[in-house]
Amino acid sequence: MKVKASAPSNIALIKYMGKTNETNLPSNSSLSYTLEHLRTFVEIESTQHNDSWEALPGLEPITLNETGLKKFLAHFDRLKNLWEVPGHFLIRSANNFPADCGLASSASSFAALTKATYELARTVRPQLQVSDAELSRLSRMGSGSSCRSFFSPWAVWSAEGAKPVEINLELEHAVVIVAGGAKSVSSSQAHKRVPSSLLFSGRTQRAEQRLVKLEASLANKEWQECFEICWTEFWDMHALFETSQPAFGYMTPGSIEVLARMRGIWQTSGDGPLVTMDAGANVHLLLRKDQVSKARVWLGGLNALTSWPRQ
Ligand code: DP6
Repeated sequence: MKVKASAPSNIALIKYMGKTNETNLPSNSSLSYTLEHLRTFVEIESTQHNDSWEALPGLEPITLNETGLKKFLAHFDRLKNLWEVPGHFLIRSANNFPADCGLASSASSFAALTKATYELARTVRPQLQVSDAELSRLSRMGSGSSCRSFFSPWAVWSAEGAKPVEINLELEHAVVIVAGGAKSVSSSQAHKRVPSSLLFSGRTQRAEQRLVKLEASLANKEWQECFEICWTEFWDMHALFETSQPAFGYMTPGSIEVLARMRGIWQTSGDGPLVTMDAGANVHLLLRKDQVSKARVWLGGLNALTSWPRQ
């Protein structure tokens, strides 16, 4: 017997950075776009041995370090206990996107694990009915950003939990890959460190205000306003990293070069993509559908993974 599930990643435009407890309750609300084309696939089957994990063959291999593996299996254990699933299992997972694209693959991984474990629980207790809102809440306990991956295309995660948000705007996504190599500070560690920055004071209010403005600007299709809010927001988060004690950071010369190019595009043409960065060196872009033809020039010479086919 084998159960399978998959879940998409998401990119936050208003960032979850800083948490108030170990179950990943966020210091501020966040807003994200769900990346349906970038997914984690999970398969679970029973085994005689203890619960374990391995890479699912055939897709892009995930590498989990010891902490990552512990976090993943602890989440599985929490759900098994909650839904009273007896026995031991082998979990296999993999992404359909490369590990070096610096996506919050924990978002899709934990959302997919939560969904697959729910499927497993339903094989034991077919009457079990759990809403997406509740699955999202449970997934949050594994990794915060995963709770937004249950809603598409737009999700807001506030103190009441994550929910879909009515914004009638479908976008394309590109991530410019500027650096390989493992991050020296994980996003989980970053959440713990940012309160040590003197700039953390007022962070919650800044993020909440931006979220309200961004939601309105997206709904009204005020594209330049959207760009300005997203730009300020990711710099706010990266400034927190660089002013934490001890300071840390993710931007590389390659990131700065891409950011400068995108700013130049906006300055010269009054149009461009929405730009954001997570806790990593790569630069994420969101584009309107009508901008895809221009993106060939915008991305010229860059190593980018795009949601649309590139010649
Ligand atoms: C910078 O969800 O990876 O991507 O809850 O500790 O697992 P944990 O952290 P995680 O943090 C993601 C942070 C971010 C911003 C965001 O996705 O909102």
